[in-house]
Amino acid sequence: MDLMEALRTRRAIREFTAEPVGDDLIKELIAAAILAPSSSNLQPWGFAVVLGGERLHALGTEAKSYAAAHLATDSPLHAHAVDPTFEIFHGAAALIVICAVNSETQSAEDCCLAGENLMLAAHAKGLGTCWIGLSRPWLNAPATKTELGIPAGWHPVAPIILGHRKTLPAPTAREKTIVLWCR
Ligand SMILES: Cc1cc2nc3c(=O)[nH]c(=O)nc-3n(C[C@H](O)[C@H](O)[C@H](O)COP(=O)(O)O)c2cc1C
Repeated sequence: MDLMEALRTRRAIREFTAEPVGDDLIKELIAAAILAPSSSNLQPWGFAVVLGGERLHALGTEAKSYAAAHLATDSPLHAHAVDPTFEIFHGAAALIVICAVNSETQSAEDCCLAGENLMLAAHAKGLGTCWIGLSRPWLNAPATKTELGIPAGWHPVAPIILGHRKTLPAPTAREKTIVLWCR
């Protein structure tokens, strides 16, 4: 897929088939992710891969409980967290959590760039992704790291669900953007 076409047509996907995503495909996506630039080329990322729709459903229940307990009740996201029908991981087959493996000041930015690479690579391969920021505080909780086997010194930055999409929504327009030409 042409890069500009991929940028234009990638969408956040929230409806998936039950088909699993194979390890080799995930390895390919991670290989694409780590082509991202990083500050001083430190490549300060680690990838925690959680597989299985049922497992993600169960973990999603935990993530929602955590969000419900920690979000302000007037947050628009709180309503999702307490909605029993809401699937925080949207029925995806896999969750890839890109983690900063050190506390360097720009490691989080590096992980975000890797995340965009991963999402575009998945799109180019006909798969769907969605960044699930709502799950990030839960992923950073020590008990969650222990449960998933994420090292205590890693900092989850980019939780990205992955799966075989049911549909690809049409490209969306962006808001009018302010550009200052500081000539
Ligand atoms: C940092 C970040 C956090 C996000 N968190 C969530 C989330 O928790 N749940 C969700 O369904 N989508 C989440 N999204 C997806 C956005 O809602 C989506 O990218 C946005 O609406 C634009 O749509 P598009 O990606 O289809 O262009 C997140 C995206 C980003 C970049």
